[in-house]
Amino acid sequence: MRLTGQSLRLTLRAATRDAHERVDRGFARFDLARPDHYRAFLQAHARALLPLETALEEAGAQALLPDWFERRRAPALIADLQELGAGPSPPPAEPPRVGGAAQVWGVLYALEGARLGGRVLARTARGSHRYLAHGEGRRFWPEFLSALEASGADPAGAAAGARLVFARFEAALEPPQLE
Ligand code: HEM
Repeated sequence: MRLTGQSLRLTLRAATRDAHERVDRGFARFDLARPDHYRAFLQAHARALLPLETALEEAGAQALLPDWFERRRAPALIADLQELGAGPSPPPAEPPRVGGAAQVWGVLYALEGARLGGRVLARTARGSHRYLAHGEGRRFWPEFLSALEASGADPAGAAAGARLVFARFEAALEPPQLE
């Protein structure tokens, strides 16, 4: 893969295109209008997202992206699960090791991008959807992309960080959560 000569965002999008198709397909199995499916969907997201946000915090993401604390979605996700009677959190997974600024940028890219799909899904979800609707009315994505392009982050390192996120979401889809 060519990793120079184009915007970092396009490089990361190309590096994760196949993985995005897989997670998109995997999550499409959930019918968010059904409370049991919606709960299983949120639990799968929690298994992936919670340790990733912990890893970002430990890696000092807020030093790179000053409003990162406002971008975290773990509190919204936990609140939605509680309203669905699913308990405060799923079994905790070990946070991955996210080393170096480039990887942090890559992890941020994938997590901020994941928010975009949520907007579409929020329309079908029944019940509390703080998580899927998180960031509505904010300019999180365009502002993130400006910061990403200005970061000068190493594309290969950032791609590794982005792939790590997709791998966690793919893993969260296994074993199948639906009856
Ligand atoms: C739950 C099922 C998902 C659906 C239906 C979905 C859908 C979408 C859609 C419609 C967009 C384009 C939005 C736009 O351009 O305005 C998008 C972008 C994106 N999604 Fe997803 N997504 C899903 C899951 C995920 C997950 C789990 C991740 C991360 C692990 C992710 C990462 C991204 C990224 C990084 C982008 C931005 C790509 C770019 O640079 O243009 N998505 N998604």
